Formats: sequence, C-alpha cells, structure tokens
Amino acid sequence: QLVLTTLDVQGSIPDTRTLVLPGQTLPAASNDDQIAILGALNSLLSREMITYETREVISHVLTPEGAQIANEGSHEARVWSVLPEKGKGTPVSPVQLKKFVGDETAKVGQGRAFKNGWIGKDGDGLVKLVAEISDATKNDMQEIASTGTLKTGEKILADLRKRKLIVQRKIQWFTVNKGSNFSTSTVKPETDLTVDMLTSGTWKTSTFKKYNFEAEGIPTNGGALHPLLKVREEIRDIFLEMGFAEMPTSSFVESGFWCFDALFVPQQHPAREMQDTFYLSDPQRALPPQPEYYKKVSTVHEHGGFGSTGYRAPWSHEESSKLLLRTHTTASSAHMLYKLAAKCRGEVIEGDEQELTHGAKDTTNLDGKGDDGFRPAKLFSIDRVFRNEAMDATHLAEFHQVEGVVADRGLTLADLIGFMRVFFKKMGIENVRFKPAYNPYTEPSLEIFAFHPMLNKWVEVGNSGMFRPEMLEPMGFPKDVHVHGWGLSLERPTMIRYGINNIRTLVGHKVSIDHIENSAAVMF
Ligand code: PHE
Repeated sequence: QLVLTTLDVQGSIPDTRTLVLPGQTLPAASNDDQIAILGALNSLLSREMITYETREVISHVLTPEGAQIANEGSHEARVWSVLPEKGKGTPVSPVQLKKFVGDETAKVGQGRAFKNGWIGKDGDGLVKLVAEISDATKNDMQEIASTGTLKTGEKILADLRKRKLIVQRKIQWFTVNKGSNFSTSTVKPETDLTVDMLTSGTWKTSTFKKYNFEAEGIPTNGGALHPLLKVREEIRDIFLEMGFAEMPTSSFVESGFWCFDALFVPQQHPAREMQDTFYLSDPQRALPPQPEYYKKVSTVHEHGGFGSTGYRAPWSHEESSKLLLRTHTTASSAHMLYKLAAKCRGEVIEGDEQELTHGAKDTTNLDGKGDDGFRPAKLFSIDRVFRNEAMDATHLAEFHQVEGVVADRGLTLADLIGFMRVFFKKMGIENVRFKPAYNPYTEPSLEIFAFHPMLNKWVEVGNSGMFRPEMLEPMGFPKDVHVHGWGLSLERPTMIRYGINNIRTLVGHKVSIDHIENSAAVMF
C-alpha cells in the first residue's frame, strides 16, 4: 500500500531507500528493509500494477570497534581528552593513562595523538599540546553510519577497511514506476469466473488476474497403449508381412458345435465340462447350423467316415447346441475354413472368400478333374478366449490367443515346423523345439518350446498340429488339401517381454496406469 500511495502522489519512486516503512521513523536504508520491499514489489508486479528495476550499490557498515569510535571518539581523541593542558595540571604517567582509557586505546591512541601533534611529553608524563582538536576518524565513522559511504572517497574508506573499522556490503534497492494495471487499491484480482459472478453481475466490476502464458502447464496425459495391444500389433505385423489375412473374431459367444463338434472334439471330452467352459444361461441354445454340414459332422462323430471309425458314442444335439464363451479362437478358424471350402461344396460365395484367399488362384490342382474350387489361404487372428480356470499369478479366466492357419494342397508336418521356426524367429525366439502332443482336432500335434534365457529353461510357447480329415472333409475340402495351425497366448510373450511375473500386473483391476503409460513402445 505504501508503494502504491507513494507512486500515486509522486508518479514514481526513484529510490526505494527513501521510503519510510510503517512503524519506522528512518528511511528504509538497510538491506533487510529492501528485502521486505522487494516482496511487496514482486506481488504488485505479478498483477502488473507496477514495474521496477533493481539497482545495486556497495555500501559500508561499521564494525563494533567502528561503532565505538562513532559514539566515543577515536582512540587518539580519547587519549588527548584525558590529559591536562601543558602547565595547567599534573602530567599523566603512561601507567595512569592505561587506567583512564584502557590498554588498547592507550596503546593505539598515544602513537596517533603524538603523530597529529595533539600531545607531548612533560617530564615523565603526558600533556595536551593543543586546546582543541578535530576528530576526523569519528566524523568519518558517523558519516558512514548514516550514508554507507564517505564523500571524500575511496582512499580513506580503503584505509578504514584495513583498520577493520568498516566492512563492505552489497545493498539492493529499486526504482519503481506505475504498471499497466496501476491502482491504489490492493484488492486481490479474481482468478476464476464463477457462476456467482455471472448471476450477481459482479463480473462486470471485478478485476481479473491476467493469464500467465509463461507458466509451465500441467503435464498432459494422453492415451497410452496397453502392452498387450502393443505386442498384439507387433505379432499382427509379422502375420501381415508373411501374407496372412486377418479372420473376423468378434463373436465371443459360440455354440458347442463350432467350438468343439466341428473340430472333432468328442462330446464327452473333459474340456466341455462346466468347470472348464463357461456356458450361457440366457439364451442357452444356438440356432441350428447348416443341416447338411451338421449331418456330416454328427455322422463322423457317431459312426465315422472319411477313413475314420469315429467315436461310436451317441450324438447329443443338446451338447452341440449349447451356447458358450469360446475356449479357443480355433472356433473362429473352423468358421473360416468352412467358408473357405464353400466353393468346393459347390456353393457360390463372394466377397469373404475372396478376402480370405487374397484372390489366390489354384494352380496346384493335380487330380486332373479340373478346378475343384479350392483356393489356398493363410489366416490369422489375435483375440480373447475364456476358460473357467482357477486364477493364479499366471492364469486368468480370459486371455488372448494368437492363432495362425495355413490351408494348401499337400502340406506336411515339415511345412508346419518350418513355418513356426520362421514365425517365432520373427518374434525374436530363435531357439525352438517341438514335442509330440495331443489335440482332438490335430494329428500329429506338436507343442512348441522356446529356451528362456532369463529363466534358463525351456518353456512352452505354443501348440500346433495338422487338422484331422474328420474335421476338414465334412467341410468339403478335397482330400489333398491339408491345413495346419498353431496357437499361442498373447499374454505369455508380453509378460516375458516386459519382465512381468504376475498376470494381474497386466490385466484386471490391479493394473497400474503408470505402468501402462511408462512401458516401452516397442519390445521386439
Ligand atoms: N486351439 C489350440 C489351443 O487352444 C491351439 C491350436 C490351434 C492347436 C490350431 C492346433 C491348431 O491351444
């Protein structure tokens, strides 16, 4: 307020050391006073009520000895003052002098007083030689105490500094002018336009704080891809670069028919039990599949065919029509393979099949009977599957499956193995091994193992096989068409890549947003 009122009256403040602060009688010459003033200036500056410039001077302050001289006179003056004038009293002996003025002053003062011609010897004692003296040191000290410097200049100041009577000090002071928002009122400006201001109309008269465009903003947190999505993208790129087409996988709900029967999974297979598969309660039943195909599938299960004896167990329509959450994306592959075989069945299907085969032409038809409608295809999908499993650090009731399927004439197990070597190599896994395994829908079947350098052991990374004729031939594929496929989880490689050892770090309500935001963009 003092700054504002002074500016209002004077127009400007050339030197803040001239201000007399509230509760004080002398101008604000000290450094502490100027620091207090600076606080006020900065607050006014932020509201653009003033502008100021900083000045700096070297000033001097008195040491305790210097302050004593300012008050009591110099040592030489004190020595002079206790002596009698010559002939007017008993000369003072050196011992007495010490008693009068103290050891230090007696010692220092005597010499200077002699040099100045103020005192002299009279017998064994000391006397004044002059009736009056001018105590220059005292005057200097008083001048420094009030102005911080000496008019006579640097030479004497340097001498006084050497005598440790004064010390140098930097003092800041300020020149102040009115700012663009100058006013004598210190009411704090508003920082927000509120509903209250709008309804009451006070916004019209309020002063608002200006935007500070120099201020650093709050960090903007944009969206970040989840590590699973990033790895999914990388695996998708591998498939695409190998010429695969992506299968549609949006139906999480499948029927027992497509998830199991079409794949020649026996209706009594344990995977179909309630504790392994989630079944829907509403609706419970799927619409019937295409009747001819349904008949072929049920027959191959019950009585065999296509060179197979079948399971020789009664067929259950109920089991086949149950709706469930798909337990593997091989259900989607079955849909797509059925579609791919459409032309082989003599059906005319456009669009989808063209897309699946990338417009491939059949050039390997060797049976001499002309075009049987088959077109080779490479298909893949990466999507969610569901299993009714006990959850632990590495298992959840849902996860993502990566699945690849290749259909062509005369494919062999060697093609499958070769394909997987290339595929896993592209994923950065060079060291793979294959182990015979069992799947109801593939024969032979292979589990894929990769050497994990951090765990220093072989870990299972996938499952694969050549689809059985019991699955392919009811769809209508010619006998020489073989299809191989492989599947792996998306979570396993993601956990390995990102060094995560608990799946709950990756999926579910315990996932930390920080972890998602800070995980590396590319891991392969
Ligand atoms: N469906 C298999 C699984 O869930 C993976 C697989 C796909 C195996 C295709 C063979 C052929 O593990």
